[in-house]
Amino acid sequence: MAARSRIARDPVHHPHFARWYARLAPLADERLGLARYRAELVAGLSGRVIEIGAGSGLNFRHFPGTVSEVVAIEPERHLRMRAADEALRAEVPVDVAPGVAEALPVKSEAFDGAVACLVLCSVRDQRRALAELFRVLRPGGQLRLLEHCRAEGRGLVAVQWMADHTAWPLLAGGCHTGRDTLAAVRAAGFEIVEQRPLRIPPGRFPVPSAPHVLATARRPA
Ligand SMILES: C[S@@+](CC[C@H](N)C(=O)[O-])C[C@H]1O[C@@H](n2cnc3c(N)ncnc32)[C@H](O)[C@@H]1O
Repeated sequence: MAARSRIARDPVHHPHFARWYARLAPLADERLGLARYRAELVAGLSGRVIEIGAGSGLNFRHFPGTVSEVVAIEPERHLRMRAADEALRAEVPVDVAPGVAEALPVKSEAFDGAVACLVLCSVRDQRRALAELFRVLRPGGQLRLLEHCRAEGRGLVAVQWMADHTAWPLLAGGCHTGRDTLAAVRAAGFEIVEQRPLRIPPGRFPVPSAPHVLATARRPA
């Protein structure tokens, strides 16, 4: 057997997407104002925090000093390597580890906070990923979300449907623009504490990935 075929394939394997995302995401942070929303996403968190699908680690620099430790789960190896570099520059300790959101390699009720940023659009099984987040958060713990979401208007919902059923997931690492993520968060047992719709980029052009939501949910105490 050739050595290459013995190397286990990652559970999430999007090498081309991973490379272009690692290059372009910092530009989007700057030019589309995403960095500001990342800071809002994690503001006020404290204690132990888990971040799923951490990508290249662009949230790490925003975690406040009240956070004692971040466990950052990232299944894609190129992004995970970039995240490990970024962890060295973070102000709080960040432990980057492989894994998927649908089967988190951590104990139950071990975290005070959890972060999902542009990832619940991409996980294969959103229901399982949310059940896992519920499991690993302590009662009363917070789930912070910055996610694509289903559009309000029917026209853009149709555009999202078209995108999600054609090339978009193939080009964008499995991303689906039109998932009703907040409904799934509620169905998983969380209470939505706060939610704010965002349009990124702003403007009226019907970009399927523009509707976003910045939200805080809570595992009931
Ligand atoms: C659009 S990127 C967002 C990355 C990062 N959260 C950020 O805000 O820049 C989507 C991320 O989800 C990760 N991902 C995809 N499927 C996943 C899964 N099943 N479990 C955990 N992460 C996953 C990808 O590897 C990628 O890092």
